[in-house]
Amino acid sequence: MTYEERLQHVSVLGAAGKMGSGILLLTAVEMADLSLKPENRGKPFVLNAIDVSDEALSGVLKYLKAQVLKMAEKKVVALRKAYAGRADLIDNNEIIDQYIFDVLSLVRPSTRMEAAFDSRLVFEAIKEDQELKISIFAKIAASNPHLPWFFTNTSSIPITKLDEGAGLGGRIIGFHFYNPPAVQKLVEVIKAKQTLPEVEEFALAYAKSLRKIVVPSHDVAGFIGNGHFMRDILHAATEVEKLGKEFSFVEAVYAMNRISQDLLVRPMGIFQLVDYVGVDVCSFIMSVMDHHLKEETLHCPLLDRLLSQGVKGGQYSDGSQKDGILKYEKGRPVAIYDPGTRVYVPIGDIQPAVDAKLGNLPVPPAWKAVVGNKAKEEILREYFSQLKAASGLGAELARFYATRSCEIGKQLVSSGVAGNENDVNTVLLTGFFHAYGPVNNYL
Ligand SMILES: NC(=O)c1ccc[n+]([C@@H]2O[C@H](COP(=O)([O-])OP(=O)(O)OC[C@H]3O[C@@H](n4cnc5c(N)ncnc54)[C@H](O)[C@@H]3O)[C@@H](O)[C@H]2O)c1
Repeated sequence: MTYEERLQHVSVLGAAGKMGSGILLLTAVEMADLSLKPENRGKPFVLNAIDVSDEALSGVLKYLKAQVLKMAEKKVVALRKAYAGRADLIDNNEIIDQYIFDVLSLVRPSTRMEAAFDSRLVFEAIKEDQELKISIFAKIAASNPHLPWFFTNTSSIPITKLDEGAGLGGRIIGFHFYNPPAVQKLVEVIKAKQTLPEVEEFALAYAKSLRKIVVPSHDVAGFIGNGHFMRDILHAATEVEKLGKEFSFVEAVYAMNRISQDLLVRPMGIFQLVDYVGVDVCSFIMSVMDHHLKEETLHCPLLDRLLSQGVKGGQYSDGSQKDGILKYEKGRPVAIYDPGTRVYVPIGDIQPAVDAKLGNLPVPPAWKAVVGNKAKEEILREYFSQLKAASGLGAELARFYATRSCEIGKQLVSSGVAGNENDVNTVLLTGFFHAYGPVNNYL
């Protein structure tokens, strides 16, 4: 079966979810572009958008329409060529409308899993539940005569467990998009022990066509991205606990959030990132990793405590940030949750005293000013050399944080999760938008 034949009949499971809707969009556009090639005219292309929620599926169609419009506007010149034989399409608007129609007419929303029984390729982005994923894969595999391939978006479950659990014989691969899939460039590709070479070959061709940056990860729970992120959270949480001797909980969270953002020149602080992903999601990913990684304990009592009080974070459906460990106004943190009193304490109330305790610090370059800067390397070297020489609690915490992040990166390589340090750095640079990779010699 060729690349194009494989993409003629596809299903996306969990199509109405955060990840599924983006995967649906990217796949619908890829399939529509293939269907417009002269050699494919008249061939049927079918994309099932499968989800348990009917209501959410109708929202997804609106999302698709809006996104395809934006994409079509950007590639109208190429679309004009693709529709060259259509004398009825003259204005750009007519071409764009036709393209939206062509993309959307491939998509068949369904709440029935049976829709996938005819697919050659199944993208899976349902909730992170090993048994649920296995039972759905097994059901589709048993009823689908076409030996479909399964592309799972799992964040943490080893692909081999899914393969063996569902008896897929290697017709599966981890294709870990980052959120949101349509915007984020990175995809971690994870082979199970038995993944067939042709499945991997297709995965790489599909990623290339989507212009994604592929980083291979070995099949170890959490892979590279969450492998670093979860241990980074644990480091910050341990530091918050240690700071408890001289800081209140709220003060310690503020301090570590500031250290991890400003002093490490990252786009957001560690606790803001936990809120962004979701306190519950982070805690769950950690528990899956903990279950699979026998030689290490990955468990965060701080997250447990917050979750037990209903502190969850995450996003509203319009993409705005829900309150979590931090409280947000116009997307900016303004207060920190105190589990002792169960109220948010304004950052302004504690900031001066905590900043004073952190001591004199070198002025870090702003992440925004560094990330796309050609002189990034020099700016970072100069800044980190100042941080290295600085004394005081804040500088000490920042050096320890950066050193631990580097150590986590190196451990991902030495334990065989990542092939090399460059892969770890690429994941952090592209998937987490860090200005520099964790494995470096700045300090
Ligand atoms: N959100 C992220 O940042 C992120 C990033 C990378 C990977 N992932 C992974 O992607 C997957 C989906 O995560 P998400 O954040 O999009 O979750 P989500 O909750 O937004 O979406 C899951 C969707 O699956 C649907 N669903 C649940 N059970 C189903 C079933 N039995 N059949 C069909 N549909 C079903 C739900 O209705 C929902 O629309 C998970 O495995 C997660 O670990 C998430």
